Amino acid sequence: MTNTTTREILVTSALPYANGSIHIGHMLEYIQTDIWVRFQRHIGNTCHYVCADDAHGTAIMLRAEQEGITPEQLIANVQAEHEQDFSNFNVSFDNFYSTHSPENREFSEYIYKACEAKGHIASRTITQAFDPEKQLFLADRFIKGTCPKCKTEDQYGDNCEACGATYSPADLIKPKSAISGAIPVQKDSTHLFFKLPDFEKLLKDWTRSGSLQSEIANKLAEWLDSGLQEWDISRDAPYFGFEIPGQENKFFYVWLDAPIGYMASFKNLCDRTAGLDFDYYWNKNSSTELYHFIGKDIINFHGLFWPAMLYAAEFRTPTAVYAHGFLTVNGQKMSKSRGTFIKAGTYLRHLHPEYLRYYFAAKLNNKVDDLDLNLEDFVQRVNSDLVGKVVNIASRSAGFISKKFNGKLSTAVSEPELLNAFASEQHTIAEHYENREFGKAIKAIMALADQANQYIADKEPWVLARQEGSEQQVQDICSTGLNMFRMLMIYLKPVLPMMTENAANFLNDDLSWSGLNTPLVSHGIEKFKPLMIRIEASQIEAMLEESKVEVAKELALKEKQG
Ligand code: 2FM
Ligand code: ZN
Repeated sequence: MTNTTTREILVTSALPYANGSIHIGHMLEYIQTDIWVRFQRHIGNTCHYVCADDAHGTAIMLRAEQEGITPEQLIANVQAEHEQDFSNFNVSFDNFYSTHSPENREFSEYIYKACEAKGHIASRTITQAFDPEKQLFLADRFIKGTCPKCKTEDQYGDNCEACGATYSPADLIKPKSAISGAIPVQKDSTHLFFKLPDFEKLLKDWTRSGSLQSEIANKLAEWLDSGLQEWDISRDAPYFGFEIPGQENKFFYVWLDAPIGYMASFKNLCDRTAGLDFDYYWNKNSSTELYHFIGKDIINFHGLFWPAMLYAAEFRTPTAVYAHGFLTVNGQKMSKSRGTFIKAGTYLRHLHPEYLRYYFAAKLNNKVDDLDLNLEDFVQRVNSDLVGKVVNIASRSAGFISKKFNGKLSTAVSEPELLNAFASEQHTIAEHYENREFGKAIKAIMALADQANQYIADKEPWVLARQEGSEQQVQDICSTGLNMFRMLMIYLKPVLPMMTENAANFLNDDLSWSGLNTPLVSHGIEKFKPLMIRIEASQIEAMLEESKVEVAKELALKEKQG
């Protein structure tokens, strides 16, 4: 890809809730986004990547209460853990912030007031279940009871896990508050609504703008065709969030200020970065690009409410929203009892982060399909591709260059056609990265790795090394081998930041994208050290075992806390 004009891009991943740990399901999204962001930077575009913890809502308030700490303490603890996990996986955020921030309060109030001033806010009284003991309104998932259909006890207010029936909490037999156990009563309260139907035309146009995945565009079209509903954006106290201006004891629903957290995080970054201008990226005529990477479960928030709110407050709308599917492990939903509900921290105690980055990349496409982490395939694939193919090219060539040629590559390229063939793949590979077809990019890169290995196997430098008068040939073959290895590293840089950094040190080269067109000649390299080691099945076993133990510990703690 040639860079005649530099694009200016702002990218976000969904904000993780601040009431639990990051698990490998979350990591699918952060890794996908990070690869795309790193690719953009690699080819010379300006790409800012921001995120934050999603810190508001009833669940966080209750969890803090359970732990005997304030919500502020809880979200600070969780944020520290999240940041550690992301940094260990080398997710290259420019800023990781919190929705419980002054910037976010300011933008939330601003956007709300803009909507209100333009008549997009309605107010009316609704009747809801209320916990008389805890004195709080109960969302459906905080009401439990007996399923009206199959009579299984202890089912949530909106669906039965035993028979799959969906219903409203009012249909439950013997309903009780999941928080206190009290029998809920019905209580009236005035709520504020965002008048989403006002934005039907805008949303129809935005949906058809062409940059959305077809699955998303179809889903949005379906909602738009069946008629938009007003959206309840207020919650009554007690609630951990921002109070709504001009209202008493009413708070913004967590989903109102969550996406605004993208802006707040970016604003916070701009305020401490010289030359980075918030308005330049967010004004309604901005020529910059804005992308949100999200899971398929939150398309409605990002495809309907969010663009409508932005439009109402006269900000730019997203260039596109990119949704991915869920992660399954060994073909099934992540399971606590099987040990496949794997936290990022647990994974990292047993395995190298780049094994997972590589595996996800190898299987990701730009569709909304679920992605399966098959643990046997994971071991096999990482070992055979990264260790067996890629690293092998360097290890087979480097020894001769170090020992026989004092670490120096040949003075000229001996196989220009071969290296040209490697370089000419850059357009295809760049296009795959750009289109989030990472699996296709990896396939193309591994095909090159196969060619490189074949070249070395055919040339047998180890045989020539024993023959007198073949020195130049040996140096040339190994120099070609290392140049091919270097190009693979350039291609893999967005996926494997750590391994490629080590390779950069070994090759004494910055592995820039433009380097694809200029092979290394008369160039000194460092002594080769293994860049990636094999995964052993026992590491996987140990990780699953630890996950099970953690679940058991958590359960015990929950029971203790009541
Ligand atoms: O679904 C979730 O995990 C939410 N915390 C995502 C929020 S994304 C954004 F809108 F803030
Ligand atoms: Zn049932």
